Amino acid sequence: MAPRTESLHVVGGTRLEGEIAVLGAKNAALKHMVATLLAPGTHHLTNVPRILDVEIMGKVLEHVGATCERDGTTLEIVVPEVPNPEAPLDLVRQMRASILILGTLLARTGEARVALPGGDDFGSRPIDLHLGGLEDLGAVFDLQHGVLRATAPDGLHGADIFLEFPSVGATENILLASVLSEGTTTIGNAAREPELADLAAYLTAMGAEIEGAGTSTIRVHGVDELRPADHHVVPDRLEAGTYIVAGAMTGGRVTIRDCIPAHLRMELSKLGDAGATITTGDDWVTIEGPDRPEPIDFATLPFPGYHTDMHPQMVALLSVASGTSIATENVYAARFRYIGELNRMGADVHTDGQHIIIRGVEELSGCEVDGCDIRAAAALTIAGLRADGTTIVVGAQHVDRGYDGFVDNLRSLGATIDRI
Ligand code: EPU
Repeated sequence: MAPRTESLHVVGGTRLEGEIAVLGAKNAALKHMVATLLAPGTHHLTNVPRILDVEIMGKVLEHVGATCERDGTTLEIVVPEVPNPEAPLDLVRQMRASILILGTLLARTGEARVALPGGDDFGSRPIDLHLGGLEDLGAVFDLQHGVLRATAPDGLHGADIFLEFPSVGATENILLASVLSEGTTTIGNAAREPELADLAAYLTAMGAEIEGAGTSTIRVHGVDELRPADHHVVPDRLEAGTYIVAGAMTGGRVTIRDCIPAHLRMELSKLGDAGATITTGDDWVTIEGPDRPEPIDFATLPFPGYHTDMHPQMVALLSVASGTSIATENVYAARFRYIGELNRMGADVHTDGQHIIIRGVEELSGCEVDGCDIRAAAALTIAGLRADGTTIVVGAQHVDRGYDGFVDNLRSLGATIDRI
């Protein structure tokens, strides 16, 4: 793991120009890695980004008894007949996605032991919906000293589950547990994220019977066993979206290849409202301009709404708009830490409850800022691309968690950026 002291040094003022390609989605690849545990044998995942979270998940899988080898962007994962039901507590605490091992190991071995997960600091992030859904399938939980033990005394069985909120992780945990449960499970008010639909496609290739993935109602007919499969991970809409906003911030002309513009419909529409010119094909997007963004309002929502993980980047862009914008964060209680950092660069951004009032300023000025999570670090880098002088984003390891080749990609578009 990179030392905490590494930082990104960005010199602002260059218009980004050129073309880059993105890789598979972090938030799909991590789930697919967990899903391999459902079927003993050799799986291949292609288009997997070389990022820290994938490395950590590889270690989680190895602890459980699998082997995980990388060749470029391909992962070969060999899953044992009998996995160890205990996930490594220290690693699970580092990464929220590892909570998915709960439903998976429970389905495979009838038991799972995991630590309560950590993850980015966006306020309280409970797992009540995960646990409620798994209980409906027959799981019983016991929490002692921070370790959650799950068992299924009568086995897992199909259930009719309706989620209070379309949580991505809860939908995935229930999906992973139900594919090997007896009978039919219905997940109502399910998350509709493309990464989840991609997980369902992978599980289907493994022999699972799933209907409705990508819609609000998912129906799973449990099967007795699954077989290993190969799968190409869906493109990372957040990686693509981040570079698109970077292009817009500099008033440049940037093309992103190997992405799916339909997965960024709301975000691209908002960028259009802010004055950018957007052209799309099946698997590429070009963004051009604007010289100065126009103010817009947006509100984060589950897919197909505006993505919360594209919120800090958009606020960075709107911080230099020609008027006042309002953003509303509906997914997380407290995704606001980056705002104080942006204001240190001269932005005029305030919160009022879940609302963010962004009064556009003419100019930002570079200084040292704390890139406190993956998207905050990306957003502050984007701000640095337009700021006067040098911006030092402390906490480069955060971008390593979610972006493969972040510095190289920005450099290839003409940015002056170094990692120190
Ligand atoms: N929630 C509950 N109870 C639950 C589960 C969720 O109250 O049992 C709440 C959360 O506290 C949060 C909201 O529901 O306020 C949304 O959480 P969700 O479960 O949908 O998110 P997640 O599965 O924990 C994934 C991504 C996040 C992304 C969210 C929303 C992964 C590994 N993480 O998290 O990605 O923000 O969905 O789309 O897939 C990132 O990539 O930077 C990132 C944080």
